[in-house]
Amino acid sequence: MAASRLLFSLCTALAVAAAAAAATDTLKQGDSLTAPATLVSSPSGVFELGFHAPDPARPARLYLCVWYRDTQPRTVAWVANRVNAAAAAAPSLTLTAGGELRVLDGAAKDGARMLWSSNTTTRAAPRGGYEAVIQDSGSLQVRDVDGTVIWDSFWHPSDTMLSGMRISVNAEVRAQVRGPPERMLFTSWASDTDPSPGRFALGLDPANPSQAFIWRDGNVPFWRSGQWTGLNFVGIPYRPLYVYGYKQGNDPILGMYFTYTATNTSLQRFVVAPDGRDVCYMVKKSTQEWETVWVQPSNECERYGACGSNAICTVVQDGKAKCTCMKGFKPKLADEWNAGNRSQGCVRNPPLDCQVNKTGDGFLSIPNVKWPDFSYWVSGVTDEYGCMNTCQQNCSCGAYVYMTQLTGCLHWGNELMDVHQFQAGGYALNLKLPASELGSHIAVWKIAAIASAVVLFVLLACLFLWWKRGRNIKDAVHRSWRRSRRSSTRSQQSAGMLDISHSIPFDDETEDGKNHELKVLSLDRIKAATGSFSESNKLGEGGFGPVYMEHYLVEKK
Ligand SMILES: *[C@@H]1O[C@H](CO)[C@@H](O)[C@H](O)[C@H]1NC(C)=O
Ligand SMILES: *[C@@H]1O[C@H](CO)[C@@H](O)[C@H](O)[C@H]1NC(C)=O
Ligand SMILES: *[C@@H]1O[C@H](CO)[C@@H](O)[C@H](O)[C@H]1NC(C)=O
Ligand SMILES: *[C@@H]1O[C@H](CO)[C@@H](O)[C@H](O)[C@H]1NC(C)=O
Ligand SMILES: *[C@@H]1O[C@H](CO)[C@@H](O)[C@H](O)[C@H]1NC(C)=O
Repeated sequence: MAASRLLFSLCTALAVAAAAAAATDTLKQGDSLTAPATLVSSPSGVFELGFHAPDPARPARLYLCVWYRDTQPRTVAWVANRVNAAAAAAPSLTLTAGGELRVLDGAAKDGARMLWSSNTTTRAAPRGGYEAVIQDSGSLQVRDVDGTVIWDSFWHPSDTMLSGMRISVNAEVRAQVRGPPERMLFTSWASDTDPSPGRFALGLDPANPSQAFIWRDGNVPFWRSGQWTGLNFVGIPYRPLYVYGYKQGNDPILGMYFTYTATNTSLQRFVVAPDGRDVCYMVKKSTQEWETVWVQPSNECERYGACGSNAICTVVQDGKAKCTCMKGFKPKLADEWNAGNRSQGCVRNPPLDCQVNKTGDGFLSIPNVKWPDFSYWVSGVTDEYGCMNTCQQNCSCGAYVYMTQLTGCLHWGNELMDVHQFQAGGYALNLKLPASELGSHIAVWKIAAIASAVVLFVLLACLFLWWKRGRNIKDAVHRSWRRSRRSSTRSQQSAGMLDISHSIPFDDETEDGKNHELKVLSLDRIKAATGSFSESNKLGEGGFGPVYMEHYLVEKK
């Protein structure tokens, strides 16, 4: 009895050991993976591929998922059959001769229902066939024995962006695929326990791929990253260093794309949550638990068009939005606006000069903003003046921005949508205004200038008087000292007198020394400040130059 029990436990141990040894990262062509078996990425075993029930209340609803192997509770990064959950106890994953991945609601030999397919078909299977491999990056790839990838889960994400992923307008396609080109979208889960496609999706704007959007219900803008400046997205100036790993690239087929590379060795992921927010999580080393490090939108101004068009959104306490019509604009519907309904935004009041056959339109620079949506790039303009001039000449142009770096000249029409003004950071926007609106601006500026000139004059006059008085006193002291010296040298020929004559220049030296020290200090400050500028330019690759600069200067002040 005891012997048989011992034998049994030995067998169990052996079976477990065998299973562990058999942990593989590869599914060979013709093989199938049946729950509860899994594939484990190699060499580090970061990710695992298998069947998983995300809803503990419904353990029979199984999905083929990629999850982090070591974090608890189980964190899913990718789901294959999001639309159709498996109902049979033992669903399976197979790899066909054509290199197509299929999720079946049971075993292939039983003719089980197909729940999902990678939809890749190749005319001829290569010698050696295909294999599906789960990698330490989290990507599931189908490739031939030479390593040519014909399908990659990174091209067809669910709700999670992992380090190494690309984001482009259309999904990458390297093999024959059934159906039209697929938009590349990160689509939220319906709820925390239901991976079926939810209401929110993140992707690049097909009309202007330099911006990322989150849309609600297919096409209602919910959040916008702002234009890519070459260093960062204008709407995300305060992203901490360790989450900032976006780089822009261009591909002859895909067009503009962005890659995300984690700058920190710890695990990171961006997830489009069921409530529409884009959340960045990172594993805390001490506890091995996920920590939220970044969220957008995190206040009302980060919600798309919170104030409607031609208005500026600023955040007041508790992340609430304060909406103000831009200078030269008034609410389109005053009653609704005052009642808190900002959907209609603001309209020009008065009109531009060019709209009433006058000349005189000029520009007002609005600092620290997230540029409006609907920008278009003006080609062939190579300087700020040309950019301003082309906007001034075109009555349909309402604002412009010129960036010496990659952006070049951007123009906007007369609908300036989704402008968020930050406390600091962001970029300036040059808003077109009629001369009457700019006139008052200039008048204020003139008054300020005159006032400061008067103050300066009074100050200088005071200084002069004070200096003159000081000089008179000094002269008097000097004269009396010389008199006393002359009288005393005769009577005393002591070292004490020498001491005094030495002590005077010495005192001067220390005073000079102090002055010198002060100068060194201020020079140091300047050096430090400029040093910080150049450093921030280097950091610019990460894309928060402005933030670091300001923080540094504020600290120094
Ligand atoms: C594969 O193609 C079928 C039929 O065109 C389609 O219904 C399905 O959504 C496609 N699957 C994927 C993962 O694109
Ligand atoms: C990674 O990020 C964490 C912040 O949670 C930080 O403590 C750590 O120093 C970072 N490591 C590197 C290499 O940047
Ligand atoms: C706001 O105003 C728009 C247009 O006038 C209207 O369609 C919408 O229902 C209003 N929204 C609310 C919340 O009152
Ligand atoms: C502006 O001038 C054009 C032709 O010079 C004329 O047709 C148009 O009516 C004028 N518009 C206004 C608003 O005066
Ligand atoms: C003027 O601006 C509009 C858009 O605001 C643009 O479509 C048009 O091409 C511009 N015209 C010229 C002459 O640049």
